Amino acid sequence: MPDTGISQETDSNPRKGGYVDPRYLDEDASRDQKIALELRRRYPNAFDLRKKARKRLPRFAFEYIDGGAGSDGNIQRNWASLDGIELMPRYGNVVAPPPTDIELFGVPYNAPIGISPIGGPGTGFPGAERFLARAAQAAGIPYTLGVLSAITIEEAAEIAPDVLWLQIYRFARNDHKIGLDLARRAETAGVKALVLTWDTPVRTTRPREVKAGITNPFRLNMRLKMDAMSSPPWLMSMMRNGIPRFVSIKPYMGGASSLEEAAKFMRTEGGGAFTWEEVKRYRDVFKGRLVVKGILHPEDAKRAVEIGLDGLFVSNHGGRQIEALPASIDAVPAIAKEVGKKATIVLDSGVRTGIDAARALAVGADAAFAGKAFLWSLGALGERGPKHMIDVLKAELSSTLGQLGCLSVGELRNVPRRHRTAWSPEDFATGTSI
Ligand SMILES: Cc1cc2nc3c(=O)[nH]c(=O)nc-3n(C[C@H](O)[C@H](O)[C@H](O)COP(=O)(O)O)c2cc1C
Repeated sequence: MPDTGISQETDSNPRKGGYVDPRYLDEDASRDQKIALELRRRYPNAFDLRKKARKRLPRFAFEYIDGGAGSDGNIQRNWASLDGIELMPRYGNVVAPPPTDIELFGVPYNAPIGISPIGGPGTGFPGAERFLARAAQAAGIPYTLGVLSAITIEEAAEIAPDVLWLQIYRFARNDHKIGLDLARRAETAGVKALVLTWDTPVRTTRPREVKAGITNPFRLNMRLKMDAMSSPPWLMSMMRNGIPRFVSIKPYMGGASSLEEAAKFMRTEGGGAFTWEEVKRYRDVFKGRLVVKGILHPEDAKRAVEIGLDGLFVSNHGGRQIEALPASIDAVPAIAKEVGKKATIVLDSGVRTGIDAARALAVGADAAFAGKAFLWSLGALGERGPKHMIDVLKAELSSTLGQLGCLSVGELRNVPRRHRTAWSPEDFATGTSI
């Protein structure tokens, strides 16, 4: 039999194991399935979506979602380190694409793949939060709402009751009144995890945003308005969904919610990153699953677990802070060695494919979350984008499992691998300990 690249099982049933093979012409498929197939043909992976998003979005929107610190060096390092990981297959025991389901913090999900928090995703594509939340709920994967969002925590919990996580920044004034109230609202809304971002102790500059005319505080000035006019899909979505506002923090802004007011508010109320003492305080008051986002050093991971945190995002903020940081994936093995048995580890930064997710799990993570890939999908396809991106990531992960000889996601940990760029214990020992 010629090698068609698909197993016999899949040949006889193109949808086996949730896998939709884009090469099949299926006359009986429903309208939705036909659309899904067509998208798989035209945009088989995240980079196809990125290319389309670049053409379709206003320049400022694309530069906001895609640009990194400096010359994007940290983004490139994230991608290169993931690409460099080799996984060794074993054959003879898998005959169909395996399932991808898992559990995180006691909650079942359909894949170990999630959506990272994005502040102001409506700048990239108006309406983003609702589109992402709906797609995640329908697909059964975690969706992390960023606190700087155009829907409230409560609305997000209505749209995505089974999969919602919430990310917050530090609001330290008035003895953390706002941050602690957000945590209370998160608990009432039933979020599955509260994520404290702590890898933004300083504000850094992303030159591509600056060059595209984005200012701080953000203003939809004449230049950006002209730019927006060049993108009918972006404009249409803004007309349908309104100018993005930060409604989650509206109660704390005296009822205002515009981007300008929010920027002013963030300057006076927000800023800096949580200290250890502050994280401890959240641990004391928040009864649900508590996670910190932005850990790269195993000693920090250890301390987070000692404080009683349930999980951590190994992240360099998608390469948006400074270029010198390690690739997140390269920090995972040492962190997994230190706390892997005690905490849930999410790899975040650089994930573009289901293969990347498999690599992350093979080297010690429990899940892999992506930011930019989902934003590209919105830029390329609007509301349909996130579902398509999830379909692709899940299908890629399932095929990767099958190819490697894993019957489940859990078996990835046993796959022999080469990860040459990983940080070793000796690397961590080269600085002076703080
Ligand atoms: C446009 C944009 C806005 C972001 N805003 C936030 C934010 O408000 N809070 C946060 O914790 N992380 C934020 N992040 C970082 C993401 O949560 C995530 O760490 C990053 O996107 C992962 O890397 P990736 O884009 O390569 O997948 C943002 C990322 C992007 C691309």
